[in-house]
Amino acid sequence: MSSVSEPVVAVARRSGPLKGRLRAPGDKSMSHRALIFGLLAVGETRIEGLLEGEDVLATARACAALGAEVERLGEGRWRVRGVGVGGLRSPDAPLDFGNAGTGSRLMMGVVGGHPITATFDGDASLRSRPMRRILDPLALIGAEVTACAEGGKLPLTLKGPETALPITYETPMPSAQVKSAVLLAGLNAPGVTTVIEREATRDHTERMLRAFGAEVTVEPHGEHGRLIRLVGQPELRPAVVRVPADPSSAAFPLVAALIAPGSEVTLEGVMTNPLRTGLMLTLKEMGADIATENLREEGGEEVADLVVRAGPLKGVDVPPERAPTMIDEYPVLAVAAAFAEGETQMRGLHELTVKESDRLAAVHAGLVANGVAARVEGDDLIVEGRGGVAGGGAPVRTHLDHRIAMSFLVMGLGADAPVTVDDATMIATSFPTFLPLMTGLGAEMETKA
Ligand code: S3P
Repeated sequence: MSSVSEPVVAVARRSGPLKGRLRAPGDKSMSHRALIFGLLAVGETRIEGLLEGEDVLATARACAALGAEVERLGEGRWRVRGVGVGGLRSPDAPLDFGNAGTGSRLMMGVVGGHPITATFDGDASLRSRPMRRILDPLALIGAEVTACAEGGKLPLTLKGPETALPITYETPMPSAQVKSAVLLAGLNAPGVTTVIEREATRDHTERMLRAFGAEVTVEPHGEHGRLIRLVGQPELRPAVVRVPADPSSAAFPLVAALIAPGSEVTLEGVMTNPLRTGLMLTLKEMGADIATENLREEGGEEVADLVVRAGPLKGVDVPPERAPTMIDEYPVLAVAAAFAEGETQMRGLHELTVKESDRLAAVHAGLVANGVAARVEGDDLIVEGRGGVAGGGAPVRTHLDHRIAMSFLVMGLGADAPVTVDDATMIATSFPTFLPLMTGLGAEMETKA
């Protein structure tokens, strides 16, 4: 299990206008996938702009343990010499994924389609997260769990089958991780693996499969869903992957610039894949001034520069079907909603309860502790915006969750009294440069010794 570091308290204070430009680090979803596809291709994959956060570094180490040569060439520049689909070896030691749900679940898909055995472990947050959603379809493919903690949780040992079975699987919840685990296992199955999702989720796996030479088709399914077919046992060819800036990380300076009066901030090279832009759409409905410039393509994804200017926001109703396109952004949207005038209803948030923490509960508690009128009704979060936030509450409990920490630090930038979070160390999992980049824009935030 990951070593546990001492918590570090951090505080954010009301700040003057934020000004300047920044590039958020590489997209976390794409960074995990680029390394994994590098492992599964034969030959040398080059990655530019890789997120060098703890989560992704754990995936890099796991790729090496499964047989790839993984090398850092310079800042964000990595080389992976892969062994190919079917060419993996069982790792000698348990794979420690730290805090990373995506890394661990996608890699379970890889192991679950190969005749190898691996043990998966992680920190207290990852050990508490549900894994049956991955293990159930992997059992249909032929994989077996030979040891696990109660409830099918980490630490667990997974043994892949001699021959993986191609399956047709409808995901029971909207989850790109579940979809991706099935597709990654299906890569080593003879025949066609089919995944059906009732609501479309981020499609980086499908895009990257294609970029590495696999045969994948995607069709609409029902009102909001998709049907994905993958032809198994391809020889994946190595690729050059340029990873755009992560919209889920850019979300923090974006909301900060909206709520700190007089701000104007440019966010460079942000991925604008339509399955990731729910937050932008919602903020625009709230009246946010966000201009999209220099639309272009990078790494097989749409990318743009976003120019964000502070201004008044109004409460809106966020429909449940939008959740898959902004699932990681609800904590920071709730912060924006607290500064808006009027009620914001965020509906259909069940999946938020099984993230790095129970984010529905953690966001609600942090808002209320800082004087925001908010309530949870079933799977819905309702925030009564009053155009400002008191702040000054007891330290917000972050429960080993990077996005809870960053969201409440952003809240402090516009609050009347400082906002404190009990631990900022987990920010390093996804956005290691958060504090210096934010203070570089003029944000008043710091860690406390
Ligand atoms: C991710 C999918 C989402 C998201 C996570 C990254 C991915 O999780 O919350 O941060 O890269 O596939 P779910 O698949 O559990 O919704």
